[in-house]
Amino acid sequence: MRKAAQQEQAADRLTGTPETLHVEGLQVHYGGVQAVHGTTFDVAPGEAVGIIGANGAGKTSTLKAVLGLVARQGTSMRYGGTDLLRTPASRMVRLGIGYVPEGRHVFPGLSVEKNLFLGAYVRKWDAAIKEQAAEVYELFPVLGEMRSRLAGALSGGQQQMLAMGRALMSRPSLMVCDEPSMGLSPILVEDILSVLQRLHSTGLSILLVEQNARLCFEAVDRCLVMEHGQVVKTGQVEELRTDPDVRRIYLGI
Ligand SMILES: Nc1ncnc2c1ncn2[C@@H]1O[C@H](COP(=O)(O)OP(=O)(O)OP(=O)(O)O)[C@@H](O)[C@H]1O
Ligand SMILES: [Mg+2]
Repeated sequence: MRKAAQQEQAADRLTGTPETLHVEGLQVHYGGVQAVHGTTFDVAPGEAVGIIGANGAGKTSTLKAVLGLVARQGTSMRYGGTDLLRTPASRMVRLGIGYVPEGRHVFPGLSVEKNLFLGAYVRKWDAAIKEQAAEVYELFPVLGEMRSRLAGALSGGQQQMLAMGRALMSRPSLMVCDEPSMGLSPILVEDILSVLQRLHSTGLSILLVEQNARLCFEAVDRCLVMEHGQVVKTGQVEELRTDPDVRRIYLGI
């Protein structure tokens, strides 16, 4: 089988069935400082939605609030039939929400393979977990070649792949990724983009935060623009590409 077709099949088996993510009136405060001011958006099943914005705009805070990793308030926040405002962070993986945090956070002292297996901690230990790892290796061949190496010995781009692979081990239906392109060379950014596109093409929902608006627009269907904790614009990628403010501020053209 051709390598691309093989990778596509692997991506297909890596994901569960998505539900609608509904976020309404989301607020995050850090002490007296409000970082997110009433954000509202949906991610439909199988949709890829991006969030772009400058440093400090509240992108990471929005994702962490969805995941329950920071204290948050909101009018309503649901994934399918589950009330996320009443769901602790520790339950999110079981709901099918996979998270690739900003800065990767792989375990440097553990092997690549052990890092992957940790991503499957909510699943019963069985042969399916090894199969899932084999599928991650098809999607990211370099991880397969380096499976016995310590994660701390990987390059930044390889660690990014490992963080994505680890999130895929729990068979998520929604992948939440925070700045996967940060600090990567243009070639590795292309690799990450093609993996995101491949996963999206298999029906996985994606919520992607990126300061790199060009990459974000290639990877998603629709995008929110955040400034100072507020969503100031939202639209299909084709609309945003022709928006004069977006072109000037985020695309530099
Ligand atoms: N743990 C924290 N305690 C206090 N303030 C915080 C904390 N985390 C973030 N902030 C503040 O909240 C605001 C939003 O930060 P956030 O990390 O969500 O932005 P961001 O859009 O992800 O930025 P970047 O592109 O730099 O990652 C910023 O003003 C930041 O200083
Ligand atoms: Mg951030």
